[in-house]
Amino acid sequence: MRHFLHETDFAPKEIGDVFALARTYKRQRGRPCSVLAGKTWALIFSKSSTRTRVSFEVGIRELGGNTLFLNRNDIQLGRGETIEDTAKVLSRYVHGLVVRTYDHADVERLAAAGTVPVINALTDFLHPCQIYADAFTLAERWAGKRSNNLIGALKGRKIAFLGDTACNVANSWVIGANLLGMKISLAGPKGFAPSKTLDRMLEVQGLKEGYQFTTDPYEAVRGADVVYTDVWVSMGKEEETRKRVGQLSSYAVTAKLFAAAKPDAFFMHCLPAHPGEEVTQEVLDNPRSIIFDQAENRLHVQKAIITKLVAPKKRSS
Ligand code: CP
Repeated sequence: MRHFLHETDFAPKEIGDVFALARTYKRQRGRPCSVLAGKTWALIFSKSSTRTRVSFEVGIRELGGNTLFLNRNDIQLGRGETIEDTAKVLSRYVHGLVVRTYDHADVERLAAAGTVPVINALTDFLHPCQIYADAFTLAERWAGKRSNNLIGALKGRKIAFLGDTACNVANSWVIGANLLGMKISLAGPKGFAPSKTLDRMLEVQGLKEGYQFTTDPYEAVRGADVVYTDVWVSMGKEEETRKRVGQLSSYAVTAKLFAAAKPDAFFMHCLPAHPGEEVTQEVLDNPRSIIFDQAENRLHVQKAIITKLVAPKKRSS
């Protein structure tokens, strides 16, 4: 049984296959598809969502399947039924699970106890679907329409991530950049540096390039092909809003900071954005801001991820 809980669940060659398939799905949108014919996938969400929920629900239906949206608090999981029992019961009804939750260990436990594929739709530690869609967005820009070498187009490029560099999207981008041969520089206050958990994961996975961390946002964006930021107050940290906004204010992506990256650099944000906090409206509206391409590509890439997870195993000859 294959799951997609971490960026590393697909080898770089397989990520290339996912991107190629995502491009086909994007070009052929509207063509009937039967990859999930007769199958139902459940979405279990403990946190709010616009992009992830809608792109998965639409994507699963476009693959020929049905969806069932389960708010954690509407099922017995929210009243204390164990993750293991929930996984075993749901595995008797549905053919796959898409899970958005707080503790990353919860998706690991669901996957271990159930008998259907599980996709991580965001935990406090990682957001792998986002990073695959982001990397695909860059690859299709840099590779051009004719080239099939989508992964090759990413190699050696530099991404600068600013603000809360210990958040799930930053963690996922560090892993993604290492897997895809990109360089990543993170800039934020000292207390927001990447965690030891991330460092251990890089070590265990043999991802030796790692990342650069600096407290100077201008140092991070120098020579960058991409400037990326995320909200400063992640879901679950709302009571820290005032403190975090004060601590992170020097890392806002302004037109001046964006101009210090390469002249053709792209601006990216996983959305939702808080204009006037982590980024100015001027940068969000810049012609090199590709935030809505990122959002759209969640749909195509997630359809490709699901297709790869449910593909029959090749027989060894
Ligand atoms: N980027 C992202 O995951 O958006 P949602 O929280 O709206 O799903």
